[in-house]
Amino acid sequence: MFMKKHDLVYLTEDASHDAAIEIINEEAFGPGRFARAAARIREQGPHDLTLSFVCADDGETIASVRMTPVLAGSIKGHLLGPLAVRPSHKNRGIGRELVRIAVEAARRKGSECVILVGDPPYYQPLGFEKVAYGALTFPGPVDPNRVLVVPMTEGVHAGLKGDIHWRA
Ligand SMILES: CC(C)(COP(=O)(O)OP(=O)(O)OC[C@H]1O[C@@H](n2cnc3c(N)ncnc32)[C@H](O)[C@@H]1OP(=O)(O)O)[C@@H](O)C(=O)NCCC(=O)NCCS
Repeated sequence: MFMKKHDLVYLTEDASHDAAIEIINEEAFGPGRFARAAARIREQGPHDLTLSFVCADDGETIASVRMTPVLAGSIKGHLLGPLAVRPSHKNRGIGRELVRIAVEAARRKGSECVILVGDPPYYQPLGFEKVAYGALTFPGPVDPNRVLVVPMTEGVHAGLKGDIHWRA
């Protein structure tokens, strides 16, 4: 009997993944994705390829997470997102693993925090905490209850006050 064997690998993103990532994000978020406040930050400058990852199944890219360097108040951190997994591959722990890999890579690189706008029930078990309500001002409207952070140094919560924007 022949059975298809799933062969998942996690890779650092490079330019060869661009087209597949575009499709994954379009499928997950639709055309409105560019209007989201986090997307406005991502428009300000490039994401960090060394902290961005894909998951491939048998050579096909099926999930992606990107990380963008940001200054959030006085904290030099990284904005996580978009995170998307193709519907065919959901609920196998791939999203969780991509978040784990990205956060660990940022920590190794000396990032002060990983921040995102997302669903607390998904991200809190992965180490994310709520940012003080309304403390950060995004370049567009966000639900303050969905602004989450993994602090990776002392004083992060106190420093997360003011604007958040792309940094070099
Ligand atoms: C959200 C997403 C990235 C999760 O990826 P995934 O690989 O399917 O997730 P995992 O397998 O790691 O985790 C699945 C678990 O998370 C739960 N989950 C998924 N989305 C959730 C959400 N928005 N809120 C709370 N829990 C959620 C699932 O119910 C499942 O729970 P279980 O383990 O108890 O069964 C994926 O569903 C996706 O691409 N969605 C569309 C885009 C999106 O919303 N991205 C996140 C932006 S904040």
